[in-house]
Amino acid sequence: MLFKRVAHIIIFILMATTVFAQSGNSEKDKSTTTKTISPDLFGVFFEDLSYAADGGLYAELVQNRSFEYSASDKKDWNSLTAWEYITQGYSYGTLSIESAHPVHPNNPHYLLLNIEDSGQEGLGISNSGYDGITVKAGEQYNFSVYLQQLSPNPIPVTVQLRDKKGTVYGAATFITESGGWKKYNNVLTVNQTADSLKLFVLAKKPGKLAIDEVSLFPQNTFKGEANGLRADLAQAIADLQPKFMRFPGGCLVHGDGLGNMYRWKNTIGPVEQRIQQRNIWNYHQSIGLGFYEYFRFCEDIGAKPLPVVAAGVSCQNSGGTWRIGGIGQKGLPLTDMQGYIQDVLDLIEYANGPVNSKWGAQRAAAGHPKPFNLQYVGIGNEDKQTDDFRLRFKMIYDVVKAKHPEITVVGTVGPSPSGDDYDQGWKFANLLNIPIVDEHFYERPEWFLSNNARYDTYNRKKSEVYIGEYASQGNDLINALTEAAFMTSIERNGDVVRMASYAPLLANSKHTSWNPNLIYFNNSKWVPTVNYYVQQLFSVNQGDSYIRNVVTFNGITDSTLAASCVKDSRTGDIIIKIVNAGTTATSSKIDLKALNIQSKKAKLNILKGNPNDKNTLNEPLKLVPIVSDFDTKTLNNYTVPAYSLSVIRIKGR
Ligand code: AHR
Repeated sequence: MLFKRVAHIIIFILMATTVFAQSGNSEKDKSTTTKTISPDLFGVFFEDLSYAADGGLYAELVQNRSFEYSASDKKDWNSLTAWEYITQGYSYGTLSIESAHPVHPNNPHYLLLNIEDSGQEGLGISNSGYDGITVKAGEQYNFSVYLQQLSPNPIPVTVQLRDKKGTVYGAATFITESGGWKKYNNVLTVNQTADSLKLFVLAKKPGKLAIDEVSLFPQNTFKGEANGLRADLAQAIADLQPKFMRFPGGCLVHGDGLGNMYRWKNTIGPVEQRIQQRNIWNYHQSIGLGFYEYFRFCEDIGAKPLPVVAAGVSCQNSGGTWRIGGIGQKGLPLTDMQGYIQDVLDLIEYANGPVNSKWGAQRAAAGHPKPFNLQYVGIGNEDKQTDDFRLRFKMIYDVVKAKHPEITVVGTVGPSPSGDDYDQGWKFANLLNIPIVDEHFYERPEWFLSNNARYDTYNRKKSEVYIGEYASQGNDLINALTEAAFMTSIERNGDVVRMASYAPLLANSKHTSWNPNLIYFNNSKWVPTVNYYVQQLFSVNQGDSYIRNVVTFNGITDSTLAASCVKDSRTGDIIIKIVNAGTTATSSKIDLKALNIQSKKAKLNILKGNPNDKNTLNEPLKLVPIVSDFDTKTLNNYTVPAYSLSVIRIKGR
């Protein structure tokens, strides 16, 4: 294993320094002129993949809360997945899943409990949450449930959080009332931190009860919002200070076949009325985290929303057809396209329309009369460039452009940084003058070094670029550094690259269906990968103008070395980023004269270590950026440590 790693590093170094020997700071023009950088350069891309939403960012603790899991989500799943029938203390009765009279037709299944004898402890159900329910001492939890008392007498119901031994961590009791479905709310106070708990709902007297939408939320959600987000994970995203957030995903959007396409209208309104569906990543989407919650989160963290809608075609890999060349793309029937396009227009109205418009009123009814200030809409994701795709994309694009010139459309140019879909996609973008196109690259670390000059020659008169998904296939320091080197080129080309986001963002460590990710988490904690720190250092130090040719490496041109210099005009600060993804420390010179630096106050933020160091849930702090005061005199001859990213921020005022 060790031998393999060492061999890999040696090969990597050889490739980086010999095969791809070119300037990591490619600047043909040697002057120190400045150019404007996109204000929306560094953001995030959220996809419900690897349990990023349910069992992750969405703070709901009950799994399969409305009994809608089914074998079409996963072969062995059904309405009772994550539930257990509890017949303790000599209680007995029957339990069944029904659909005759649901709370709402969009949420058709519910549980029927017929309590013949409630015994000593009550008859009922328990839920195991997502790999157990984790609670914190001193916190309060909002329990709610829809019940229909189907027998004449009121039934006392006890709710408990219990561990394996039966110890109770929080409890509440209430009594049912007759007359149709009714929502019951209780607060459970927890005095002790615990994980692996189960939520018990027990009927304490004989009778008949219909049960649906069993929910348990921490009161401590991000910003305390109802139906909200897990506070620590949301804060981790907020701390990246993303300028935008793309949602609800990539492949998830165009879906595994036409029936699985993500429809934003199914995701708003009261949660019990939303239409749930299978996730393309082979699990279930409760849709509790829907478009309202996405918009609200964007607003909370100051990120511009970038919702993506399918381009009227399903994923080309539908049904696993990537194994036979990705031929699974299907187009919506053309007769459905008018309705589909109306859905896209309605989305814009939902986000931006006045409260007296049809969809603006829905936003207001959800609690947000103020518009969400939507500026971007993505159409399509990595779609195979076929006639079916082009026809439908153009139908949507033409109408959005005509009716909403204020909206900037982001198109798509396939799944890879080159190849047929990329070429065809760009041809199509040029033909239609699409304002921005979305490029994706999941490539080896060497690719990120050897492609540092990729955007230097992009035509500034054509579409701008959104690098919607990129990652260098690993969470080691060396991966993060090659991404950092590439990010200096994104800054340098911030006049043609409008936006960029690492992908994927979040992964539950027990349900990871894609690697690497930016943030890994379990039920109680999360770990910032080294890649996370790189993203953060760039994002919080994003300037608005780029100053050319400030950093030099004493004549050395080597793709493992890269640098950028930006200015933040709000503060007047100058920010220099220097990456050394190579084995040896190297001296660099920062041209003070060109910068006209008066200030002596500066901070150095440095991330360095061994190339294969990484942060894990067990060792989350192995590598963290270290901040120190920095003497600007050193700028003339700054030694860049091997395997490091240095961010030097010089105070403007
Ligand atoms: O980020 C994971 C997946 O990678 C996205 O869903 C898709 O767009 C890409 O193929």
